[in-house]
Amino acid sequence: MKLDIITGTRPNLVKAAPLIKSLEDDDQIRYRYIHTGQHYDENMYEEFRTSLGLPKPEIAFNLTSKIAGTQFAEMVANYSQVIENSRPDICLVIGDVNSTLACALAARLHDVQVAHLESGLRSLDWSMPEEVNRVFVDKLSSFLFTPSSEATENLIAEGFNQEKVFFVGNIVIENLMNNLDKIMIKKRCNAFGFRANEYILATFHRKSNLDEKQRLSSIVGNLKILSESLPIIIPAHPRLIKKLAEFDFDSKFLGENILIVEAQNYIDFMSLVNESKFVITDSGGVQEETSFLGITCLTYRENTERWSTIFGGTNTLVNSENFLNQCTSAMKSKRSDIAQFEKWDSQVSRRIIDVLKKVG
Ligand code: UD1
Repeated sequence: MKLDIITGTRPNLVKAAPLIKSLEDDDQIRYRYIHTGQHYDENMYEEFRTSLGLPKPEIAFNLTSKIAGTQFAEMVANYSQVIENSRPDICLVIGDVNSTLACALAARLHDVQVAHLESGLRSLDWSMPEEVNRVFVDKLSSFLFTPSSEATENLIAEGFNQEKVFFVGNIVIENLMNNLDKIMIKKRCNAFGFRANEYILATFHRKSNLDEKQRLSSIVGNLKILSESLPIIIPAHPRLIKKLAEFDFDSKFLGENILIVEAQNYIDFMSLVNESKFVITDSGGVQEETSFLGITCLTYRENTERWSTIFGGTNTLVNSENFLNQCTSAMKSKRSDIAQFEKWDSQVSRRIIDVLKKVG
């Protein structure tokens, strides 16, 4: 069976790594690893990929546009050409980014069956580009691999045929488990002059937080107040740097106790998460990684598609109004035991491979 595995952004790489590792010794599935190039910076892609032990892609697109719509069209065109040259039996796309939808669409245009890894997540917020991508990719898919029972229930409620839905578990956690030893010994915070438990880690990259000046100003204001109690480190996504500069903030200095550093590789980033007092984020994967590690996570969003982390008790949604109060509680929080979620384990890629062998 011939399988294409598509990645385009950092969170895709995290989810592709365990699957590719498990496929390396498999003699029934021949895979091609394809990277679209949506994320292209050294530290957003190349260094990140290497830190995950992910091989170089067999095919990498050379995208010329950085504008979302035209970049999307380029991805459709590039992957269509790849299929024309050599057809896979199944195209596996991951998560909810533009690359995911672009390649799923190209596959369907060429009658190639689509498998969606991390299917069924829903924030019900149609203003999020990721929610649009999730819903459309699921509609285009023949095989829907869900990370949680809630995700499976969402698909069933939307009328998907149960036989197409496979609850395989959370592959973000398989990746974390594969790298846990390295993360535990790393102590990346020392490189920035911090000690374990004595700093807060924050990440922001969503349009909904960054693209309006008023919203971003209120986030910066809140972080400044918070940093008087405990220093904050921000590994910055390029969009954050760009928007801070665009709205006339100093994109290198937001305050004495706020350290902005460049995007970190996976092991360094997870080490910073692991040693932090608590985490503030708008990322999807970080909500799950903190939950697994038992670290308090404040998610700076109006909603989430990762409801199991809220039900699990380690993740709380915050906004500009309740932020400082929630931080005061988070300061007092103790690290909880490693959380138990169904199929958040090291067997997710194995389950996916078993399904692919049955259906392919
Ligand atoms: C994308 C995903 C989001 C995911 C995030 C993780 C979509 C719709 N969104 O958002 O779901 O959580 O990745 O990081 O696909 N840029 C660089 N260097 C890079 C990559 C991007 O400078 O390596 C710049 C781009 O030019 C753009 C901005 O950062 O101006 C945003 O990048 P983009 O790929 O559009 O989306 P993300 O915000 O990264």
